[in-house]
This record gives sequence, structure tokens and C-alpha cells, in this order.
Amino acid sequence: MTGAATAPVLRVRGLTRRFGGVVAVADVDLDIAPGERRAVLGPNGAGKSTLFNLIAGADTPTSGSIELFGADVTRLGARQRARLGLSRTFQTSRLLTGLTVEDNLYLAAVGVSGGRLRLLRTARDRTAREQARATAESVGMTDRLATLAGDLSHGEQRQLEIGLALVAEPRMLLLDEPAAGLSRSERQLLTALLLSLDRDVTLLLIEHDMDVALTVAERVTMMHDGVVIVEGTPAEIRGDQRVHDLYLGKAHV
Ligand SMILES: Nc1ncnc2c1ncn2[C@@H]1O[C@H](COP(=O)(O)OP(=O)(O)O)[C@@H](O)[C@H]1O
Ligand SMILES: [Mg+2]
Repeated sequence: MTGAATAPVLRVRGLTRRFGGVVAVADVDLDIAPGERRAVLGPNGAGKSTLFNLIAGADTPTSGSIELFGADVTRLGARQRARLGLSRTFQTSRLLTGLTVEDNLYLAAVGVSGGRLRLLRTARDRTAREQARATAESVGMTDRLATLAGDLSHGEQRQLEIGLALVAEPRMLLLDEPAAGLSRSERQLLTALLLSLDRDVTLLLIEHDMDVALTVAERVTMMHDGVVIVEGTPAEIRGDQRVHDLYLGKAHV
């Protein structure tokens, strides 16, 4: 099989990141198929954030390689990976709380188009407005366009952050613990939003919350102490004794 359609969007090989004596990520292999919904799950200290930062290009591996969309990006920075079609969310909010939902999305769209399109300013603004509104619709926020980001609920702010990451029309979206700090009902809304996203976008979700991870993902990679200990379907993960031991033992808060 040589077809590009079956080539992985993300291919990680032997990825290792040491911090002094700590091996935060230890010889990790990972293949994510186009359109796949994948979760990386694990207790605190498992190496999830370190893995996320290595894939996003915010950190450099000690050894190993990362291919995105068939290109070796191991030595490329975060901006270059973004230009290839990788987008990410941030654990700390980057919303401009004094601006409306529409203007947050609009500014993100202007930022994107500024980098790759040379249009007249008015045409660019119009395109960015349209993109802002289309993105608001795709994250279910059309009725919030005129609301100040600072007046949104916690869950809606998380929705908007996902919208900001989608404005660039990425091929792959990395989500860093999107359910963290949300109430139960907000987590359910977020889960529904993630399930509704276009299959053109491949999702890699780093998540501590098992319910969200196992509902959104079709395959789950479980990490512990920097190592992948099991990979499988949500049903396989639910039935895995090691997963139970790790989650019932210490991590579930
Ligand atoms: N910048 C850093 N400097 C030193 N140690 C780090 C750093 N980042 C992470 N670690 C260590 O690497 C391990 C994995 O951390 P992390 O990737 O944050 O795990 P997780 O996100 O799964 O909770 C932990 O032991 C943590 O203390
Ligand atoms: Mg973390």
C-alpha cells in the first residue's frame, strides 16, 4: 500500500525527552490516521504535556523523530508546523476578554490570512469576518457573536478557544486537556462539540478525564511514567486492568 490516503497524519518514532534524570517521554511510537480521533490518557506526571509540546513544536526531543503530513518536522519550530496545518489549544486561556466572540475570531482570522494571503485590506477584512462567523457556527456559538469573551461561561470560553484553533482550517488539531476545570454539564457540551467537528480535521486529545477521552476517541493511548503502556479502543481501555489500577489508585480527582 502506497496510497497517500492511508499514510498517517502523524508518525512519532522513538520519541524521548529527558529533563535531567527524569525521562518525561520514553521511546514513544505513535501513528495517527487521517480523520482519526485519538486520545492520550494518563495520570499526572505520565508525560502527556511533554508529548504534546514535542508534537506541537514547543519543545525539542532528546531523541526520536516526528513526521507530520509525511514531512519530517523534528527540527521545525511551532510556527512552521502550524503553517503545515497543525493547530493547538492552550491550557491557559488566550482569549481577549474585552472583545466580543466575533472579534476574537476575526482577529485570529486576520492573523492567519496576513501570513498567507495578499489581498486588499477591505477584501481581507471581509474574508476574515466571514471566516469568523463560519467558525463561530462550527463551534456552536452563532448566538454568542456579540457577547464579550469575558462574559462567557467557563465552558463557552473553552468552546471559543477551540474556535480560535480552528480558524486556520488546520488538518490536525491538538487539544490540551480541554475538559480541565469544567463542570459535569460543561464537559458533556464540550464532548458533543468535539464529536461534531468535521472529519477533515484529525483530533489528538491529551486528556486526564477518562469519560471525555473514551467518548470522543476511537483509539486511546495510555501513558504512565513516560511510556505507552497500552493502546486500544475505548472498550479495550475500559477493560484493561492496568488502566483500572492507575486510575483507581491515585489519579482520579
Ligand atoms: N520543564 C520540565 N523540567 C523538569 N521536569 C519536567 C519538565 N516538564 C515535565 N517534567 C517532568 O516530566 C514528567 C512528566 O510531566 P508532564 O509531561 O507534565 O506529565 P503530565 O502532563 O502527564 O502530567 C514529570 O515527572 C514532570 O515533573
Ligand atoms: Mg499535563
